[in-house]
Amino acid sequence: MTLVEWSEEGGFATKADREKLIKDSELRESLEGVFDSITLRYTYELIRRGVIKRFITNISQGKEARVYVAEGADGYVAVKIYFTSASEYYKTMPIYIEGDPRFSHLKRGDRREIVETWARKEYANLSEAYSAGVHVPKPISIRGNVLVMQLVGGSEPAPLLKDVDLTPLSWKRAYNQIMNDLERLVVNAGLVHGDLSEYNVLYYRRPYLIDMGQSVMTSHPRAQEFLFRDVKNLNLFFRKKGIELKDLVKDDLITKWLASRR
Ligand SMILES: Nc1ncnc2c1ncn2[C@@H]1O[C@H](COP(=O)(O)OP(=O)(O)OP(=O)(O)O)[C@@H](O)[C@H]1O
Ligand SMILES: [Mg+2]
Repeated sequence: MTLVEWSEEGGFATKADREKLIKDSELRESLEGVFDSITLRYTYELIRRGVIKRFITNISQGKEARVYVAEGADGYVAVKIYFTSASEYYKTMPIYIEGDPRFSHLKRGDRREIVETWARKEYANLSEAYSAGVHVPKPISIRGNVLVMQLVGGSEPAPLLKDVDLTPLSWKRAYNQIMNDLERLVVNAGLVHGDLSEYNVLYYRRPYLIDMGQSVMTSHPRAQEFLFRDVKNLNLFFRKKGIELKDLVKDDLITKWLASRR
């Protein structure tokens, strides 16, 4: 079912609406040609509610999701739309979902339910991190598999940490800022990122952590292992920048952080 057929049924988004809201026909094609009708319905609901005013461009086409820049009610937003089909990744999602008491009650166990739970989990993780003072994009809204958050970068999407060019002093500052955020994430939010590297950190005046669907609570049986891996990945990247690193083993950082969880 295309969106037009569907809208005629529901009277939800008319052709004129769609053309007004997503002016760029290529962009409209990128949404309507890729996502199923339920995803499109969620997207148009967010448009109707004014959470999204206008899609501007597509930033990324990953295996899990596509991310778009849009105009929101109050500034620019990033809209992350998870795929519900044509992907194998949903098979590993239950591992991270089932280890998490907040989301472990999958009822139907179908693809859409798993992916929607995953999106909700990313939204909850961002909310908890944001409230704990960690620098992450502020979460704005979630509808099914469509997540809306603040765009890091102001009006243009910020580059990834791996692509920026900083002075030695700024690299040092960026490293300390990320380590402080990681500590806050563990101690104040009780979460471990779980997929941290220079690919999941954006840089706009300072670093911002993104991509938290897989993040788990510190009570997860593998939390310590994930945290160790996160810090190791970061250290590997920052070592190449000539930064003096925190010594994971000598400083026993992870044990200290985990022991001081609130
Ligand atoms: N809030 C945001 N502000 C600006 N850009 C963002 C934001 N969220 C995501 N992006 C951009 O979209 C890309 C993909 O986002 P994310 O890492 O959350 O998804 P992913 O599922 O890992 O996708 P991929 O498979 O492409 O890595 C990021 O690398 C970043 O460039
Ligand atoms: Mg990513």
